[in-house]
Amino acid sequence: MIPDDQVEEVRARSDIVAVIGEHIPLKRAGKDYRALCPFHEEKTPSFYVVPSKGFYKCFGCGESGDVFSFVMKRIGLDFTEAVKYAGRKAGVEVREVKARPEYQDPNRPLYEANAFAREYYREQLADAEIGRLARDYLKKRGIDADTAEAFGIGFAPDEWRGLRAAAARHGIDDAILLDAGLVTTSERSEEPYDRFRSRIIFPIEGLTGKVIAFGGRLFGPGKGAKYLNSPETPVYHKSEELYGLGRARHEIRKEGAVLLVEGYTDVVSLVAHEVPNVVASLGTALTSVQARLLARFASRAFLLYDSDMAGLRATFRAADVLLSVGIHPSVVTLPRGEDPDSVARREGREALMGYVEDAVDVLDRKLQILTGRDRLSSIDGIRDAVDRLLPTLRATTDPALRDIYISRVAAETGVRRETLEEEIARTPAMPGGATVPAPQPRVRRVRKPLMGAERQLLQVLVNDRRLIDRASEAVGPEDFVHPANRAIFRALTENPELDRAPEEMEAIAAGRLAALLAGTEEVGHAARVLDDSARRMRGAPLAERARELREAIARELDHERKRQLISELEELQRKKREIDPSHWTPAVRHRPGPGEGTASNEERP
Ligand code: CTP
Ligand code: MN
Repeated sequence: MIPDDQVEEVRARSDIVAVIGEHIPLKRAGKDYRALCPFHEEKTPSFYVVPSKGFYKCFGCGESGDVFSFVMKRIGLDFTEAVKYAGRKAGVEVREVKARPEYQDPNRPLYEANAFAREYYREQLADAEIGRLARDYLKKRGIDADTAEAFGIGFAPDEWRGLRAAAARHGIDDAILLDAGLVTTSERSEEPYDRFRSRIIFPIEGLTGKVIAFGGRLFGPGKGAKYLNSPETPVYHKSEELYGLGRARHEIRKEGAVLLVEGYTDVVSLVAHEVPNVVASLGTALTSVQARLLARFASRAFLLYDSDMAGLRATFRAADVLLSVGIHPSVVTLPRGEDPDSVARREGREALMGYVEDAVDVLDRKLQILTGRDRLSSIDGIRDAVDRLLPTLRATTDPALRDIYISRVAAETGVRRETLEEEIARTPAMPGGATVPAPQPRVRRVRKPLMGAERQLLQVLVNDRRLIDRASEAVGPEDFVHPANRAIFRALTENPELDRAPEEMEAIAAGRLAALLAGTEEVGHAARVLDDSARRMRGAPLAERARELREAIARELDHERKRQLISELEELQRKKREIDPSHWTPAVRHRPGPGEGTASNEERP
């Protein structure tokens, strides 16, 4: 048998449209999909797939069910095999275990350790003495005891081995604590010590409500980064989880809409202010795995990110990912320097909901910004603006919405619809939701850059300062790996007229900047080169991880573990294609998207 929580996990993460779409050609019908029923003869389609509810139904013969029943009926698998099959598609590892009495989920010790740790941290927070400062801090932040309780918020005291000792008394040994990321070792200490010290603890729950990780926020005493989070563990992959989704999913489904915020405290604060349909990603940009998960519950999203440049960049990136899975995103603009938590506390729920009601569709928001910067009057400006709107048009998979968007852009820029449609078709769609990037089309390619992407991008900016704005929408200083390049980028965004290294700039950076300023390297198609470099930079960390994985795969002897690494690599390559469809490599199996409807070449179990 397969443990229930794994079955639930697979069900929740399955993309029923993709799974069914591999067997029969699906056509979009509004938010749903339609096909000729595979279970009875018919001439006109009456078989519907409803992704938001995760089921299918035929109005002709009455067959209906979820992703598992489809696979069982269609391929003739039993339930266990069907769960494994769907699990493989969804990237959820499924482990069969012997039936009941001896049954033991291999991850169970991790969940148990996490559950124990949450209790421990909670008790510390409740302790009259130990938890006093932490409670004061929470109170100051408007998190009352009930709210803290509801989120299981706790406190990790200023002790090196508090949790470890308590866990040992409870019979949880170091190996498990290490696997769970609750304790760690260092060069100076082979003896494991508590990862979280002097921090407010936010337990992170998975979709099914189990504690899978922790976030720890520094406050008052103690030093270090503001947040310290659990590392990746067998039960925690931060790019696949959303903080608060487990508790919010029913509300999200009820509303059909989700509010996306940046931080733990925003989620906690909004829920405390009776705004329940809210989630946050976990310190990373929104990924397509997270977006697909949301698409099971919501068709609309409201993005409540910072309104500074970095926040806008995150907003537009997230919006494109959401559009690619068929979610319609709107942008909420909060007063400068405020976040959802501070607005809710300062101005109250009604005011916050007022801002949400004033949300602007993401494409309209882009147009607003472009108009505000007077980018839609001059010919150069319009040309540039069109390039910046195209990725959003491409990402949009909902045909009706895409149509509206194209009309809107045509009206605002004066570029004909047909021309826009041709431009859209020129490169494959961005982040892949239900659609898979088409195999490499024949596009006019940017001259293959000879320089590293970072340097290339900087050279373009140094040559043409009008592109600085555009660049800072695509990348931030954090996207630069080389500190010197990062410093140069910062300096350029702070002072677009920069013509020599600022005094405080450190020597290596100053040297590089001087070389760029003297640079004679002509870069043709500057704007395209810029976009290309930005994409490559955003893909670079993935490339690094892919290299590590390949080495690990070559070394790994354990069969099961090797398979895990390979599927991690496949996932990584998928993400890489999303960031940069032009680097699409057919190395990993190509799954026909719904509507493409070719016979599946996937191996059948
Ligand atoms: N984050 C992180 N590591 C950091 C900083 C931030 O993981 N060093 C993540 C956390 O998930 C955090 C989110 O990014 O919740 C947003 O960061 P920030 O806005 O700085 O924190 P808030 O949650 O708003 O916390 P607070 O209001 O207490 O400052
Ligand atoms: Mn905050």
